[in-house]
Amino acid sequence: MSDGFSLADALSAGNNPNPSAPPPQGWPSWGSHPPPPGGVPAYPGPPGPYPGAPGPYPGGPGPYPGGPHPGAPAFPGAPAGPGPYPAPGHPPSGPGFGPPHPPPPMTVPFELPLQAGLTPRMLITITGSINPNPTRFSLDFKKGNDIAFHFNPRFNEDNRKVIVCNSMFHNHWGKEERAAPRFPFEAGKPFKLQILCEADHFKVAVNDAHLLQYSFREKRLNEITKLCIAGDITLTSVMPTMI
Ligand code: GAL
Repeated sequence: MSDGFSLADALSAGNNPNPSAPPPQGWPSWGSHPPPPGGVPAYPGPPGPYPGAPGPYPGGPGPYPGGPHPGAPAFPGAPAGPGPYPAPGHPPSGPGFGPPHPPPPMTVPFELPLQAGLTPRMLITITGSINPNPTRFSLDFKKGNDIAFHFNPRFNEDNRKVIVCNSMFHNHWGKEERAAPRFPFEAGKPFKLQILCEADHFKVAVNDAHLLQYSFREKRLNEITKLCIAGDITLTSVMPTMI
């Protein structure tokens, strides 16, 4: 190592000039960032990577709809990925093997079944981009018709940008939570959105920085068996992993 640039230099680089790049530890600090001026104090999360977080995108080498290991469920009950292209040990083409396929397009609205429901330490990483001239988009973690967690960025509510979080039980919306300290989404820009299920709340990080948390109103996590994504975004990947 004589290039004059050490890991310590990289880790101490501070003010990341490229917020969309994964942090050196490969994991959002979920709040060890300094709070924004006037913002809420940062969540006192663990200082380093969660145990077992292996790389820039925990659990997998790259974005791949359905899970980090093509062809294998990412966790019990997750849908299997469509399989590697080409299959291991097979030539890329030849009798019975067509040219490599691109991954299937991810249409919005998009539904991710979570067959075994949510569980603490389950992380769902969503990448995509915000459409031009967006109005809103939403994530809905659903228990049947109920919505345990509705995460809803609105781009123009009376000329303001606001993130609304709420739950819906028996077709009735509860009290809205609108305390997000910032609005990290921009029209036309890519984003990485991560939802971490903890013991009694969800944490949400955007572009590797903690954004907000939402205390469970529905506590039967194993019955929250669907994630629905809708609105003015284009999806690249939706990846459940365990951390
Ligand atoms: C309603 C809106 C719903 C949902 C809800 C959250 O006004 O129609 O889609 O966002 O607010 O409280």
